[in-house]
Amino acid sequence: MTESHIESRKRPKVTVPGIAERKNGQSPISMITAYDAMYAAIVDEAGVDMILVGDSVATVMQGARTTLPVTMDQMEYHVRMVASAEPRALIVGDMPFGSYQASIGEAVTNAVRLIKAGAEAVKLEGGVHVAPAVAAIARADIPVVGHIGLTPQSYHRMGGNKVQGRISGENAGSRERILDDAHAVDTAGAFALVIEGVPSSLAGEITDKVSIPTIGIGAGPRCDGQVLVLHDVLGLSPRRFTFAKAYAELRSASIEAVSRYVAEVQERTWPDDAHSFH
Ligand code: KIV
Repeated sequence: MTESHIESRKRPKVTVPGIAERKNGQSPISMITAYDAMYAAIVDEAGVDMILVGDSVATVMQGARTTLPVTMDQMEYHVRMVASAEPRALIVGDMPFGSYQASIGEAVTNAVRLIKAGAEAVKLEGGVHVAPAVAAIARADIPVVGHIGLTPQSYHRMGGNKVQGRISGENAGSRERILDDAHAVDTAGAFALVIEGVPSSLAGEITDKVSIPTIGIGAGPRCDGQVLVLHDVLGLSPRRFTFAKAYAELRSASIEAVSRYVAEVQERTWPDDAHSFH
C-alpha cells in the first residue's frame, strides 16, 4: 500500500447528502468514469469524489460505435467490479439504453439491480420524458443523477453526438427544451445533474436555476462539478475530443513499453538472470 493509498483510505466516505450539500459550494465536485476494480482503486486514491460506471464502457472498452449496445447484465458486472475496490468515492451506476424507457416498473427494477451490484446511486439520461422514472426510482430510496443536453443514448435522434442547446425554439435539443429538462429532473427528485455538450452560457444558466449540483462535461466552467472519461484523462483513447483533456499520455507510453518487451523477447534478452528461478 502506498502512502497516498493509506491517506485515501482515511478520507471520509463520500455520500449522497455530502454531494447534494456542495451546490454552489467552495469545493467543486470531481467525477470520473471507471469500469473495473483496478482503475476504481487508482481514481479513488487520486481523491475523486464520484466514480461513474458509465455506459461509455461500450465505446471505451467494448469497441462499440455508440453506447446503445451495452446491456443491464454488463453494467451490473462492471458496477460489481468497481464496488469490489470499496472506494471512498460515491459509486454511480449508469442505466443503459433500454433499461428505463419501456415502463416505470422496469426502470425501478433495473435501478434496484445496479444498487444490489454495489452502486450507491444511478444515472439516467433525459429530461421531461424520463422525469416520472426519476421520481419513481427516487421514491424507492435510490438516489438518482440526471443527465441532460447531449445524451449519447439519443444518438440516432440527434444525428450523432452533437452539441445541443445552440438553437432556440420548441424542437428537441433547443435551449428552451434543455432548460425544461433540467427543471423536470430537479423537480422529480434527482440529487445531481450531469450536463453534457451544451454551450457554457446554457450550463451556467441551468446551474443558477436548479436546486441540485450540476456536473459538466463539455459544458464549460460554470457547473458545480466536472466529469470526464478516465481513458481520455489518461491519454489512452485513440481519439482526442475538444471537451476532454489528456493529463497523461498512457497510450503512447503503453505502446512503447510493450514494443520494448516484444523486442527483448525477439533478442532473447528477456528473461534475464535476475528474473529467472535457480
Ligand atoms: O457514460 C459516461 O461516461 C457518461 C459521461 C460522459 C457523463 O455518461
